[in-house]
Parts: sequence; C-alpha cells; structure tokens
Amino acid sequence: MSTLTFGIIKPDAVRAGKYGAIIQRIVDNGFNIRGMKLIHMSKKEAEGFYAVHAERPFFGELTEFMSGEPCVVLCLEKENAVKAWRDLMGATNPAEAAEGTLRKEFATSIGENAVHGSDSEENAVIEISYFFSKLELV
Ligand code: RTP
Ligand code: MG
Repeated sequence: MSTLTFGIIKPDAVRAGKYGAIIQRIVDNGFNIRGMKLIHMSKKEAEGFYAVHAERPFFGELTEFMSGEPCVVLCLEKENAVKAWRDLMGATNPAEAAEGTLRKEFATSIGENAVHGSDSEENAVIEISYFFSKLELV
C-alpha cells in the first residue's frame, strides 16, 4: 500500500542550486509528489518543527540553519514511503552515507545534510500537516 512521508530539501542544498537535481532523483526513484513549495521558516517555526530535539546540544545551530534561508518542503507518496525516502536520503552524517544516496552526493556535513525525512508514519502525518494545508496537497 502506498503511504505518505514528509521531506525537506534543506537550505544548504537550495543555496547550492541542487534542488532541481534532488527533485529529479525523487521522481526517478518512483515517488509521487503530492505537495511541494519553497518556504522560508522563521526561527519559531523551525523550533516548533524540531521540538523533539529541543534538549539536544545542536538545537540552536540546527534551527538557525533551517530558518536562515529558504528550503523546499515536500509531501511524498510511495510504497512504504517513510523507509523508501530515508533509504534514498542516506545516513545523517554524509561521511557514513552509502554510495548512491542523496546525502552522499549533496550533503556537506552532519548539520548541513541536504535533506530531511520523517522517521515514522505518525511523525509523517504531523509534519505534513505542520507545513501543508489540505488545499496544497494533490
Ligand atoms: P532529519 O531529521 O533532518 O531527517 O535527519 P535524521 O533523522 O537523519 O537526524 P536526526 O537525529 O533527527 O537529527 C536532525 C538533524 O539535526 C542535525 N544534526 N546535527 N551537529 C550534530 O551533531 C547534529 N546531529 C544532528 C542534522 O541536520 C540532522 O539531520
Ligand atoms: Mg530526524
């Protein structure tokens, strides 16, 4: 059964002009794009999105980075979408990301790692509704 996940092309990849290449990879890998827009989050919006990481030492750096410049938010559909999208993204640290993954190709560091993906179906639902209204999803 096809399911939904939420993804972000992070500010480092947008700044580097890599969002087109990443969107092409998403399409080539069989994802159906159900929602997509360019946004520029406020610090508060980034803090709300990453609230689960509020106690982590990198929270300030992460939310500064995510609110510093525009990013592309995505609602993606595929068979087993959460896992399929995380497989395509690769490991959080690009130094550990497998060949052929987006983070291997496009990420520059553990902090500026090109893409985000939901880590569970429950969080995918929450994250999609954090950024998209019903009208913005096809
Ligand atoms: P994401 O949520 O962005 O898809 O990444 P993830 O599941 O692979 O990694 P997670 O543990 O959820 O961490 C969220 C994001 O925080 C930044 N981070 N920085 N400096 C650090 O040690 C560090 N660790 C994590 C990364 O941008 C990571 O994607
Ligand atoms: Mg995560």
